[in-house]
Amino acid sequence: MPRQFLVVAHRVPVSGAFSLNDLAGAGGRMDEVARTVSTAFTLSNDLRRDSELTVLFVAEPAPRARRIRIDGTRVRYLNPDERSTAALLKNALARSASLDRDVEASPGLVVGPCDPARELGAFAAVPGTIWLTERGVPYRESAAARAARRAVLGDPFDLRPEERGLLERLGVPSVSLGRAARRTSQCLDALQYEWDVEESTAPHRPDP
Ligand SMILES: C[S@@+](CC[C@H](N)C(=O)[O-])C[C@H]1O[C@@H](n2cnc3c(N)ncnc32)[C@H](O)[C@@H]1O
Repeated sequence: MPRQFLVVAHRVPVSGAFSLNDLAGAGGRMDEVARTVSTAFTLSNDLRRDSELTVLFVAEPAPRARRIRIDGTRVRYLNPDERSTAALLKNALARSASLDRDVEASPGLVVGPCDPARELGAFAAVPGTIWLTERGVPYRESAAARAARRAVLGDPFDLRPEERGLLERLGVPSVSLGRAARRTSQCLDALQYEWDVEESTAPHRPDP
């Protein structure tokens, strides 16, 4: 079972019409979205093949919204720098702008229209999903977090009240990585580390 991450991005122009020279401004914090994608999959001189990441690019009205899904087993052309990752995502968004169906914009990267609320609900409803938020239960105290391999994260603008409400109604365990508000990419990195540790130590754990 791959690790699965869902990031909700609220201000990236879904047409892909922004400059790679202004990712944090006109790009609606695409710099951090790209950093998160790169962090999810890149190791030093290697790619993680055990992960999948979906970015929901929220836009109104909803038909404009886009979903990019990246499959670690197949992804190519993913480099550690945020600019080239942002270019990969921007090109996918631009290619999808006039299409009403999914398309594989580059190997392992599928883009298409989506209903963000529905996708968030469907992802979060799968058992074993957690939601990362500063206000959650500390990771080290959460059995659900240690057992999980699926997580929802917000972008620099956090989840909206209606998105948080949806997760609360579904009873998704909320998990904190400390009191400090961290960047999305930092949270994803910390979670990958915790789950790596979990998997490397699990077989050696003595019986209770
Ligand atoms: C930059 S934060 C969102 C803004 C943040 N609430 C603030 O006050 O600046 C981006 C996302 O990272 C995750 N996050 C940030 N800090 C966290 C923490 N300490 N524990 C768990 N998740 C965190 C959440 O999913 C959040 O939506």
